[in-house]
Amino acid sequence: MTMTAIAAPTRDRTATPLTVLMCRPQHFDVVYAINPWMDPAVPTDTARAVAQWQALADTYARLGFAVHRIDPVDGLPDMVFAANGGFVVDGTAYTAMFAHPQRGPEGPAYARWFRSQGLRVVEATQINEGEGDFLLVGRTVLAGHGFRSDDASHAEVAQVTGLEVVSLRLVRPEYYHLDTALAVLDHRGGREHIAYLPSAFDDASRAELERRYPDAILVSEADAAAFGLNAVSDGLHVVTASRAHAFHAQLREHGYVPVGVDLSELLLGGGGVKCCTLELRGAAQPNIHAEEI
Ligand code: ARG
Repeated sequence: MTMTAIAAPTRDRTATPLTVLMCRPQHFDVVYAINPWMDPAVPTDTARAVAQWQALADTYARLGFAVHRIDPVDGLPDMVFAANGGFVVDGTAYTAMFAHPQRGPEGPAYARWFRSQGLRVVEATQINEGEGDFLLVGRTVLAGHGFRSDDASHAEVAQVTGLEVVSLRLVRPEYYHLDTALAVLDHRGGREHIAYLPSAFDDASRAELERRYPDAILVSEADAAAFGLNAVSDGLHVVTASRAHAFHAQLREHGYVPVGVDLSELLLGGGGVKCCTLELRGAAQPNIHAEEI
């Protein structure tokens, strides 16, 4: 009698290189505390932050991403966290309006860059921190609130983009932005796949995530604390914190290729891979920044 081989489930993971915006952390420092990771008494090493950030930019280049740069501004030490600079979908940039005054001027700085690249810019009238709290999955925007973005911005994003917006309430101060608690692994319609930390959400939001994404990867507390969920996926490669070991194994089981990056210096500011990365979706290819990555 012959045994019938049971085929492994086909994962069909496919890499689609992204177009992203990054900001070199040459002015990075922790001089104020607006999240529990930040402690101005702990010294930062800016040269090390730049080197770690460069390794992330190099990783993206190796994956074939188009990496664009915005000039850092002296006096804006958190500007490296480009994800917060806006939310760009279908060539339209919805601008950021920061919750804390220390980051306020970043909104207009990013808006100027969007305009210089010919993107359609829609000025926000509600407090929101861009892709820190807005994650696109299929044609649905998962939108975080509770610490930074005001839920009034969720309605504004729905109106500006015409997309379905699902509000999710964050309840743990360490996971103050949605992109610290939830990663989009596959955004393709019909194949949506995410990973998240259940305890970061209130009961209703967790129930909504379970209903929509029954096959989601649930990560451990340790991997979330290493900022493993602060990840960028091209659908096959998942660029994430090198220290999120168990998450790497979970990703492999699901057919992804984890790519570990060490951003320990930027974690002193409460940021990781995704925080340093703003996705530019559907934009006409912006001009390459004169300075080489
Ligand atoms: N220090 C920054 C802040 O507290 C970190 C932002 C991290 N960005 C992100 N997309 N999660 O605002």
